[in-house]
Amino acid sequence: MRTERKNRGEVMRFFATAAKGTEGALRDELREARFREVRADRGGVHFEGPIEEGMRACLELRIAVRVLALLAEFEAETGEALYEGVSRVDFSPYVDPQRTLAVRAACKDSRLTHTQFIAQKTKDAIVDQQRKQLGARSSVDLDDPDLGVFVHVVRDRASLYVDLSGESLHRRGYRKRIEEAPLKETLAAAILRLSGWDRQSPLVDPMCGSGTIPIEATLWARDVAPGLLRERHGFERWPNHDETQKRRITDMREAARARVKSEGPFVAGSDVSPQAIETAKQNAKAAGVRLHFSRADVRDVEPLEPPGFIVTNPPYGERLSGGEELYRGMAEAFRRLSGHTVVLLAGTPEISRAMRIRPSKEITVWNGPIECRLFSYSIR
Ligand SMILES: C[S@@+](CC[C@H](N)C(=O)[O-])C[C@H]1O[C@@H](n2cnc3c(N)ncnc32)[C@H](O)[C@@H]1O
Repeated sequence: MRTERKNRGEVMRFFATAAKGTEGALRDELREARFREVRADRGGVHFEGPIEEGMRACLELRIAVRVLALLAEFEAETGEALYEGVSRVDFSPYVDPQRTLAVRAACKDSRLTHTQFIAQKTKDAIVDQQRKQLGARSSVDLDDPDLGVFVHVVRDRASLYVDLSGESLHRRGYRKRIEEAPLKETLAAAILRLSGWDRQSPLVDPMCGSGTIPIEATLWARDVAPGLLRERHGFERWPNHDETQKRRITDMREAARARVKSEGPFVAGSDVSPQAIETAKQNAKAAGVRLHFSRADVRDVEPLEPPGFIVTNPPYGERLSGGEELYRGMAEAFRRLSGHTVVLLAGTPEISRAMRIRPSKEITVWNGPIECRLFSYSIR
């Protein structure tokens, strides 16, 4: 059997996935963190480097949802061709029969049209290889696998990836409780970067819910790598995660800890719900950051001194509390904040209509299945 194996030091191709509309923000983040061969694409950003760069991406990136490493690309017009292509890759570095496996698939403009069939064929090829080599096979665990495999078939060509991140990177580990309609941590981080915040000016979220935006703002401003808050990543569950790799990730974690700034800018959150404030406080404590949280109505928002940023995600849809009247009052309060930048993640056009001023920037971003607009207003 001819196998394709990735050796240490070899340059690998990675794909960091991102929420739709945030790919540009993730590209900027990767460039700023000095990753190489960075290129934005639909649904994520490509980059390259040795395996350690993939590990570093899991530790440092705030906007990426997953970090995938490309193992092979091949023609897959039929189930047999797919099976053959997967069989040529040596999976022993990534999974052994004592560990579990899950395969996910996506396809587009291809002869193979059933994602479940693609996932099944891929899984069969991996476990048949294990049986031949080792006389035993991994079992499947769809909830918490030791190895996640992704196969994307586009125009009859398959790209086979392993997932370095394991659990989705939005699960930083600090959100012990949530309130209604919480933003994913990765989307909050993307919104903050897209808002143009300089990480120094004061920032307030006056409808902070579980506190995600203020917490992510503080972690970013103080350069706390999000992976420091997570117990372990996917690659730490692979058989090839040997002593050398363990030392590398320990060194990376120590270097990241050394970069953390003890002080940050003024960041605060408020909400009309006392329960939300309690949740936000607990989450901030779990994240190890000190923040100002208070109970207040957004319509009473006060100017910041010096003027800074308001970044918020007003309620909308079925969960809306307040409706048009809330939007009108909120917009009036925001228009009084001269010298401030107001950034709103809006799930309904009613929010921008209520603002009655032209946004300086408007970007479409997806909050899960919901198409939203991110509006930036420079208040004069
Ligand atoms: C979409 S949620 C924000 C979610 C938050 N970004 C998070 O990650 O948890 C909207 C929040 O607005 C709050 N809210 C509703 N009416 C308000 C008002 N008049 N003043 C302040 N907050 C209000 C709700 O209590 C809710 O927590």
